[in-house]
Amino acid sequence: MCGIVAYVGQKEALPVIIKGLKRLEYRGYDSAGVALLNESGLSIYKKKGKVSELEAHLDTFSSLNSKIGIGHTRWATHGEPNDVNAHPHYSASEKFAMIHNGIIENYEVLKTDLQNKGYVFHSETDSEVFIKFIEDIHRNNDCSLEEAVRLALHKVVGAYAIVIMNIEEPDTLIAARKGSPLVIGVGEDEYFLASDATPIIEYTNKVIYLDDYEIAVIRQNQLQIKTIENVETHPYINQLEMELEAIEKGGYDHFMLKEIYEQPRSIADCMRGRLDASSGRLVVGGLRDYMNKFQNAQRIIITACGTSWHAGLVAEYLFEEFARIPVEVEYASEFRYRNPVLNENDFVIAISQSGETADTLAAIELAKSKGATIFGVCNVVGSSIARATHAGSYTHAGPEIGVASTKAFTAQISVLTLMALKLGYQRGMIAETRYMELLHELETIPGKVERALQLNEQLIKIAEIYKDARNFLYLGRGYNFPVALEGALKLKEISYIHAEGYPAAEMKHGPIALIDEEMPVVFIATKDSSYEKVVSNIQEVKARKGKIIAVVTEGDTTVKNMADHVIEVPSTEEAFVPLISVVPLQLLSYHIAVMRGCNVDQPRNLAKSVTVE
Ligand code: M6R
Repeated sequence: MCGIVAYVGQKEALPVIIKGLKRLEYRGYDSAGVALLNESGLSIYKKKGKVSELEAHLDTFSSLNSKIGIGHTRWATHGEPNDVNAHPHYSASEKFAMIHNGIIENYEVLKTDLQNKGYVFHSETDSEVFIKFIEDIHRNNDCSLEEAVRLALHKVVGAYAIVIMNIEEPDTLIAARKGSPLVIGVGEDEYFLASDATPIIEYTNKVIYLDDYEIAVIRQNQLQIKTIENVETHPYINQLEMELEAIEKGGYDHFMLKEIYEQPRSIADCMRGRLDASSGRLVVGGLRDYMNKFQNAQRIIITACGTSWHAGLVAEYLFEEFARIPVEVEYASEFRYRNPVLNENDFVIAISQSGETADTLAAIELAKSKGATIFGVCNVVGSSIARATHAGSYTHAGPEIGVASTKAFTAQISVLTLMALKLGYQRGMIAETRYMELLHELETIPGKVERALQLNEQLIKIAEIYKDARNFLYLGRGYNFPVALEGALKLKEISYIHAEGYPAAEMKHGPIALIDEEMPVVFIATKDSSYEKVVSNIQEVKARKGKIIAVVTEGDTTVKNMADHVIEVPSTEEAFVPLISVVPLQLLSYHIAVMRGCNVDQPRNLAKSVTVE
């Protein structure tokens, strides 16, 4: 939520910042702004809307040359999206400018205090309060800006990643973080700062992940990091492995489509080096030191949000089927406030694409405080969740830029499948021959996903028919129940059509009342242990004249005779079906959203990385 970029070095700062903001736009696109410092002083330019609108606004100015600058793309928390609430914000004297990603929870108290001292506020944001609070400390204590920031950070409650420019130190950026991500790119005589590495990768692959409660003072050729207790730290410089093309559209109209099509590769990448069916080798590196805890856990608790929570539901079926350990799947936002019963025998798995989701992070901290072992399944390398957990495995899906999660979902399920099989085998719950069968089948999944992608033309035709529907129902059972939830979420978040996912058998307990000839119902009815039951549910919908779109196993003839449309996917083991059956649902949502003229990569009101609770 909110993307921040900053630069100090020899280059023109503005193009670096604008390009960076475009890469970070997935984090929020309510407004965008930059602050630049040159002979004319410290100037802020900001605009409601996307970075392209800021660019158009900047075209009307001359003399924007500057070797230092900060930029922000906003997902509104305090105050509506408009020019005034856009970042950066000036301090009262306009000597400092600040960008902020996060939420200051005690901003109202600070604001009242400052107002009593005569400070005037122009925006409704907590961030304007934050920078004015820093300036107030700076004035009252007659100290350096760095010291003022340090003192302020002891007083603010909440989450932040901030970068500040100071007219009196025209070559210096001051940055700090707690709870919101901040990456420093280390170049030759230049530094980059950003909410993630995507704006940086083009210039350098050397990065430092700033830790919570650290303050960095950055000059063209000098970087110093201290804790807020004023203790100098010696940061580790990481080498990024990300390639530039991974964060570009590569000829596709949208990132979402590109990411859907990347799934055969991303699933294979996730399994690469971990699975070798011919030798029976299955290694989940992150588990090595915790296998004992995992095997002997009395309970597995999975916590996540959104699509990652759906991947957690699939994992519940996987772990219970293969490892016979009871599993609970928890919305992180509920779990963190529920005073859950937890102890050191619980194994908690936190799933997150971004690795920054505030609720998931808080759930991890809670579980840690109760002594549980926490294992992270994250996509973004070096992310906060990846660093907050005891151990973990990366999904290796590569950067996911489209706000709607697609390849991250299948990569999460892939890692969780590997974990479930490993655990089941180690616990003696899967016989050797069956284990080998499963490993061999798992290796075929990327190829089968490739075949599912060939259904695209058929899905375009179905999308054309239903693009104006006002509601959709998605129904599935067993492993396909979470797929139904995911299909509905994909459709609603990018096309703004109301969609609900349900376990197919629950339909008769309420949703069936919605069914008439206007209602498209998507069944995920692959040949599995609940197939016959789902077929009965299809009959029930047909009897009420609902329109039936069914995802079935290749060669199915029963459903063909009942459904208005059948989408045939390759057959596989029941436990691996979600990896394939979700693909046509992703494509259907994508095409419907495009046909309705929606911005599929940046749906309204959403942000990719939800760093507020
Ligand atoms: O980064 P995370 O996986 O923790 O994010 C969780 C959700 O915000 C995310 O999955 C969201 O539901 C997606 N936009 C769904 O497509």
